[in-house]
Amino acid sequence: MKEAIRRLLKKRRAILLAHNYQPPEIQEVADLCGDSLELSIKASETDAAVIVFCGVHFMAETASILSPEKTVLLPSLNAGCPMADMITPQALLAKLAELGPMPVVTYVNSPASVKALSTVCCTSANVLAVVNCLDESEILMTPDRNLASYAASQTTKTIHAWQGYCPIHDRLTPEEVTAARTAHPEALFMAHPECRKVILDLADAVLSTSGMIRLARTSQHRAFIVGTESGLIHALQKACPDKAFFPVSASMICPDMKKIHLEDVIRSLETLEGQVKVPESVRVPALESVRRMIGITAGS
Ligand code: 13P
Ligand code: SF4
Repeated sequence: MKEAIRRLLKKRRAILLAHNYQPPEIQEVADLCGDSLELSIKASETDAAVIVFCGVHFMAETASILSPEKTVLLPSLNAGCPMADMITPQALLAKLAELGPMPVVTYVNSPASVKALSTVCCTSANVLAVVNCLDESEILMTPDRNLASYAASQTTKTIHAWQGYCPIHDRLTPEEVTAARTAHPEALFMAHPECRKVILDLADAVLSTSGMIRLARTSQHRAFIVGTESGLIHALQKACPDKAFFPVSASMICPDMKKIHLEDVIRSLETLEGQVKVPESVRVPALESVRRMIGITAGS
């Protein structure tokens, strides 16, 4: 199946991008695996005619925002993100009416229609650079309350947090972290900023998924407890075959990130089914906030 996919990718002049949480067999066939920021940048730079996005819906939408002339395929259209579904443009406008005018920093894990109303986007890799780049001292951050609380802990700005969250990261408990630390006392604990503050307070490092891979590569440590979705363990193990990686909890599995199978990629490439296209009325304002984010990251 991997050979069939590689053949079809060539025939369609397509590139296959996979998020670090995708199943191992998808990561293995991809042209590029990465965190949300790396995948957004790649989607903005590629000259391929077709982008096959193995991730969830908001990621394919971001690719469509950046590359409207390309065909963007999400091989399983029902791969969504529960956190992205916790905000709507109408609810955001109501919140701004209540708070008064202020810049809105929106995590890429959000619908295109919300990005379109936002000042700038961010990912877990660049949230601090984005927040610090704004002149204003009061900001509304959407939709992840945990990422907002992490940003607030690292800046003097006042941050109003939208009350969304990632169900997979939010449910991790301090007891699970303590149990993992007791089982692997030699290991460094890396946590994703989608985890709650009580978890981040226990972490040795707070990083995006690719940030975790970079730390594992460069650190003197030989063992790591991984405080994010367990799909990352495959990428970590591949990057550092002689180091040990332990999931912080067996329950950190995102069902939406496991919805794309090799068969779906083949079908999508054969039929061009699963197209994601953001309408121009939403895409143009959303592009502003995504581009601003990429510009800040490039300059930081
Ligand atoms: P990053 O890979 O950007 O850290 O994102 C995590 C995530 O939850 C994506 O859905
Ligand atoms: Fe959404 Fe969480 Fe799954 Fe990422 S891990 S796609 S934030 S539900």
